Amino acid sequence: MARFFKYKTPSDVTADAATLGYDIPATEDLAPLFQPVAVGDRSVGNRFAIHPMEGCDGTLDGHPDELTYRRYLRFGAGGAKLIWGEATAIADDGRMNSRQLLINDDNAAGLEKMLADCRAAHRESVGDDADLLLGLQLTHSGRFSFRKPKIVCHDPILDPITLDKSTGKFIDASYPVLTDDDLKRIEDQYLAAARLAAKVGCDFIDLKQCHRYLLSELLGAKHRPGEYGGSFENRTRLIRNITQRIAAEVPELILATRFNAYDGIPYRSRAEDKIGEPYPHELPLQVAFGTNPENHREEWLDEPVQLVENLKQWGMQLLSVSMGNPYANPHIVRPAEFPPVDGYHSPEHPLDGIARHFRISRRIQQAVGEVPVVGSGYSWLQDFAPHVGAANVANGSIALVGFGRATLSHPDFVKTLQETGSLNRKKVCRTFSYCTNLMRAKHNELGQYATGCPPFDKEVYGPLWDEVKQSAESQDD
Ligand SMILES: Cc1cc2nc3c(=O)[nH]c(=O)nc-3n(C[C@H](O)[C@H](O)[C@H](O)COP(=O)(O)O)c2cc1C
Repeated sequence: MARFFKYKTPSDVTADAATLGYDIPATEDLAPLFQPVAVGDRSVGNRFAIHPMEGCDGTLDGHPDELTYRRYLRFGAGGAKLIWGEATAIADDGRMNSRQLLINDDNAAGLEKMLADCRAAHRESVGDDADLLLGLQLTHSGRFSFRKPKIVCHDPILDPITLDKSTGKFIDASYPVLTDDDLKRIEDQYLAAARLAAKVGCDFIDLKQCHRYLLSELLGAKHRPGEYGGSFENRTRLIRNITQRIAAEVPELILATRFNAYDGIPYRSRAEDKIGEPYPHELPLQVAFGTNPENHREEWLDEPVQLVENLKQWGMQLLSVSMGNPYANPHIVRPAEFPPVDGYHSPEHPLDGIARHFRISRRIQQAVGEVPVVGSGYSWLQDFAPHVGAANVANGSIALVGFGRATLSHPDFVKTLQETGSLNRKKVCRTFSYCTNLMRAKHNELGQYATGCPPFDKEVYGPLWDEVKQSAESQDD
């Protein structure tokens, strides 16, 4: 398979992007990344954000475990001033996997220790944590809840590939949809989770509305009847209620949301060459948010822009823009050089995906003015992600540059950049997708392998990856 990344300098990225018709500037001047930025009433010390990334390494009851603590110590020490803690379920039946963190009274002390240790590591490493913003992404996994899918509407393309593990069958039109009363209970669960989050030391919480988990699916529930479906007003009722109630009842928290500004549609691997192709689908599309119903490749941003303007009014103080669905169209969420095991070879140049991320996040940042927006999709740019990020910050396209996979291989990337002017090539993520592959591996006694970076955090995750391969081979036998 052709590989795409072949750049020797930041300007090579810009030049290659131009051949594809995109304006992706890069700058050698990284100073904009080291400027503070206001988030709510706080000043955040630099423009580096660590994206939320599940480690899938909690205990079966959702308590942080040894590897969870290790990850947050490393993130804390790394120098980024916005640490966006991972997807943490607000209810056991909304967990995405058997080792996902769960916020409840029993786990509160563990989460508190995880956050406090992260802060202490930050202080020890860079001297000051007054300008560190640390929080958690609160989630209900909805359709992707591992015990049983909890859907808010049927999706004619996604339903036939949504597995109900409790029956071993894919779901169909007869599968039950969560009722309006169920959603009201979920609103209360968010409230309880927010209160606990404040108690355990979060500066902010993210009400997760991305990647087609529950609140994200609801944004596109155009044919759902009742109070939470159909009109834009109804589809945003739950996020409106949750945001306004938390703003009123837990005012000490900064409210944030990571949301899908564009869903697209599911892809599959084409038989002849394993390149991704869209699933066969009928037009108009019924449930894809931020997407032209007549052409899934085209973003339609009227509703996402309306959403963020409303969110700002309701009290949202920090946004992170994402898109796509990690299971059904991973090339949109995380442009990669090598596809994940359950994916396909990229149907587009990764720069197409990166240009989509940049174009959409710029539009959202323009819409909300001074509310800071975190941009995504940087890891594929490898050594030159900081240069491209600095250009995007300098020209006002976004306020903060979010790094995902890159932080698993090189958690101290900010410190290294500050001290040496460049990343450590030996630790730069090459988007091999091992992290996603570990996340997809579930054939151990816990029903889930922990994820991290086998090639560059070898000591810990190398043996885990070997085990995954060996046990998969013995399963094949
Ligand atoms: C192992 C792994 C776990 C992830 N977990 C989450 C998560 O908990 N919440 C979320 O919003 N995104 C999650 N993501 C997506 C990342 O936050 C990020 O959007 C994506 O990797 C693209 O950014 P990057 O190119 O810098 O990696 C995860 C990605 C990976 C690879």
